[in-house]
Amino acid sequence: MTAEPTIVAFANQKGGAGKSTNAVHTAGALAKRGETLFVDLDKHGGVTCAYGYTDEYYLPEEDNVPVGPTLYSCLMQALSGPPVSELVIGRDEFDLLPATEQFMSTSNISELSDQPRSYERLKILLKGLDGYDFIVLDTPPDLKILSNNAIVASDAIMMPVVPEKLNQNSLTILRKQIQGVGEAYPVNPTAVIASRVEDNSEHEEAVEAIDETMPFPVIVVRKTTQLSQAIKEGETIYTFEIDNDQARAARETYDEIADLIGSEVDR
Ligand SMILES: Nc1ncnc2c1ncn2[C@@H]1O[C@H](COP(=O)(O)OP(=O)(O)OP(=O)(O)O)[C@@H](O)[C@H]1O
Ligand SMILES: [Mg+2]
Repeated sequence: MTAEPTIVAFANQKGGAGKSTNAVHTAGALAKRGETLFVDLDKHGGVTCAYGYTDEYYLPEEDNVPVGPTLYSCLMQALSGPPVSELVIGRDEFDLLPATEQFMSTSNISELSDQPRSYERLKILLKGLDGYDFIVLDTPPDLKILSNNAIVASDAIMMPVVPEKLNQNSLTILRKQIQGVGEAYPVNPTAVIASRVEDNSEHEEAVEAIDETMPFPVIVVRKTTQLSQAIKEGETIYTFEIDNDQARAARETYDEIADLIGSEVDR
């Protein structure tokens, strides 16, 4: 057990880049190596809800007031409030810190942004957790306060992108953002994950172009329907009971990503 967990964020302000999918299966790979927590910072709570925790995500319809603490309320009170450990859902493969519908509210987001040390709050909350070797952060498709909190809290940042010409500048924008935030808080982009890659010349050429222009390893994750099927079933590619060439190749790829995130922690 390490004293400090390794924290990795999956970020790209572009929607549908593969943040959640790659974050979940990487968490599956990391969970084989050590105690792992998945933190859902996506305002849509995609993973929280796909894994069945809709009660934790949605606010009561009558009044929109949460019945107890949420990740949003913990972030708001991070300097003095209750520990976030109360919110953690224990699961077999990896634990989950669920998103909340409160992330959807523009006024909530702007109120959080106005707080002192607004970028450091997730890092402060995560420091209060014990027993994890790895923490995986899934971020929303924007460069606002939740993504910035994830960047500041991270030791490694994985940048998923669908390798198409139109998407390449999203990486340049993201790098600038990470550099900007990194002026105050040292952060480390680690790798590009080319997501949902198909055997066609557009994807091949775009992967090559990213490889040539970005000073990071580029890991290719092939288009594989089992990746989304597994999430739908509340699983990862490691626990999902399908053993074909595609699933095996995907497992190897996420093992490679986990190796890169880098740890020799034994379970
Ligand atoms: N390797 C893959 N093979 C097949 N489908 C994939 C793969 N990676 C992602 N997808 C699919 O692509 C879509 C977008 O992926 P995902 O939700 O992970 O992206 P995201 O960046 O988290 O999106 P958002 O910005 O909306 O949060 C989903 O339908 C997902 O199932
Ligand atoms: Mg997502």
